[in-house]
Amino acid sequence: MATIATNANAAAPAAPGKLTPRRRFLDACHCRAVDHPPVWLMRQAGRALPEYRELKEKHSFLELIQTPDLAAEATLQPVRRFGFDAAILFSDILVIPEAMGQSYRFRDTGGLIMDFAVRTKADIERLSVERVVERLSYVDRALRLLRKELGDQTALIGFSGSPWTLATFMMEGGSAEKYTRALNLFREDRQTFYKLAEKLTAAIAACLQMQINAGADALQIFDSHGGQLMPTEFPEASGRWMRDIVASIGAPNSDSAREAGVQASACSGDTLKRELQHADSEIGAPPVIVFSLGTHGNWDDLLATGASVLGIDWQFPLAHARRLLPADIALQGNLAPALLGDATPEVVAQETRAVLEAMRGRKGHIFNLGHGVPPNAKLENIAALVETVRNFK
Ligand code: CP3
Repeated sequence: MATIATNANAAAPAAPGKLTPRRRFLDACHCRAVDHPPVWLMRQAGRALPEYRELKEKHSFLELIQTPDLAAEATLQPVRRFGFDAAILFSDILVIPEAMGQSYRFRDTGGLIMDFAVRTKADIERLSVERVVERLSYVDRALRLLRKELGDQTALIGFSGSPWTLATFMMEGGSAEKYTRALNLFREDRQTFYKLAEKLTAAIAACLQMQINAGADALQIFDSHGGQLMPTEFPEASGRWMRDIVASIGAPNSDSAREAGVQASACSGDTLKRELQHADSEIGAPPVIVFSLGTHGNWDDLLATGASVLGIDWQFPLAHARRLLPADIALQGNLAPALLGDATPEVVAQETRAVLEAMRGRKGHIFNLGHGVPPNAKLENIAALVETVRNFK
């Protein structure tokens, strides 16, 4: 069973008056003042960590994500090592297509391949929305284990892909050099594309609500392929579906909230219920982070999704984003990921400070990379990043 070791690096219980990592993260999501920006990294779990590589010697990736104990363990590894303010469930965006009936596996030569590619109206009709939540019960179980382990100390992030990004993978039938099929469908047969997008929107909304009910504090929608669209296409191909999803997300349903709460720590049921809902007693629903890669011409559309937090990718200066976006939306990002593999700890610390300075005095900054941790990231570089954020005054 996964446990969090208390080592010097890990986040210690907060002293009176000091924010817990969870509180720091949630306060920043709502643009409230914090002591220093919270920090977590996209793809913080995985190949850069020796303890993950050890797990991978015994289990395949799919085994890891489908076995709640193992998924919880992989999720906790980076939190133990670096004391991140938030844990992100170890899973994948492709679990939803799989639960809809399109399973996938890894090719020996790299990349992933699905059982079939969605090409026709009949393929779309065959995709099931109804059974998604049931088929993803391993996600529900992993999150409940994590909520219990993390208690009220560390925030727990659930996630999904965006309908657009999932459609690109599903129509190619896996990872591909170029994702042209979903684009072509969108351009040539809009109504059929909408059928697929509607089904994905329903499946994703159900899966995210399940994640909230299981104890997730916040949700991130990865729109990793948003930047493959023309800015004029983005609203209809991606933005509006994310907006529908954000609009559908509600507060935890009380039964599961209470159940997850009872597991969450040893406090009384009432305290726990409050603690779970504290995610936002005033607002109700947990914050949603929209991370859309390479869509710098679509700030208005991204704001229109209703997200509480926008992820800014590494190719857009955070200082510009700060000027462009209203003060009541939090910004997440955006150190260049490649620095973690290629640079020295000194350069990582210096560039981390530059990102922090660009956001100095702006409430609502969540420190992150501007995309995922690369597999060749050096541990000393991740440590330098975290230490620099934590010591920022
Ligand atoms: O952030 C985290 O630590 C949580 C785990 C997480 C994974 N994938 C684990 C993973 C998250 C949040 C994802 C999201 C994801 N998955 C995205 C969006 C983020 C992004 O990078 O833009 C996308 C596009 C995917 C789809 C996917 N999964 C791809 C393209 C691959 C790589 C395939 C290959 O060629 O190796 C994966 C596999 C994957 N997902 C790995 C991990 C740790 C690597 C598996 C391994 O070899 O250990």
